[in-house]
Amino acid sequence: MSETATPTLYDRLGKRPGIEAIATDIFNNHKSNPIVRNRYVNSDPATVIRLVTEMCCAGFGGPETYTGRDMITAHTGMNINEAEFVAVCDDVLSALDKHSVGQKEKDEILCILYSLKNQIVHL
Ligand code: HEM
Repeated sequence: MSETATPTLYDRLGKRPGIEAIATDIFNNHKSNPIVRNRYVNSDPATVIRLVTEMCCAGFGGPETYTGRDMITAHTGMNINEAEFVAVCDDVLSALDKHSVGQKEKDEILCILYSLKNQIVHL
């Protein structure tokens, strides 16, 4: 009997190039989303895209190292609310749709995002 391991999310999303393309669209979605756009007015797009790419690569099974701050430190003092959290999740899902990411992968990613909610909201 043989078993075939499911490839990592990193592999299924197209490794770093695929994840970077998705992270770029997530950032662009935030910039055009009225619920969260003002949060990113002072952000350097390349830096935010790089850090989100690194975090996803590292968390999804890739060899990258995440060089940014932990989620609590990064979001403390922003007092992010639930509607903003949902808006960010919606921006992620629509970027995943744009890249034709499968339902299974979208479900896995949404679970990961939701698991981080308490490290992001009301801090
Ligand atoms: C699970 C959801 C989220 C994840 C995985 C996430 C991830 C990240 C990461 C990796 C960074 C960079 C950390 C660093 O600067 O060292 C960051 C920064 C930031 N996040 Fe989030 N975030 C999430 C939700 C949110 C929400 C809901 C908001 C509010 C709308 C938000 C607003 C910001 C802002 C304003 C920054 C700073 C950007 C900058 O320094 O220019 N994040 N986030």
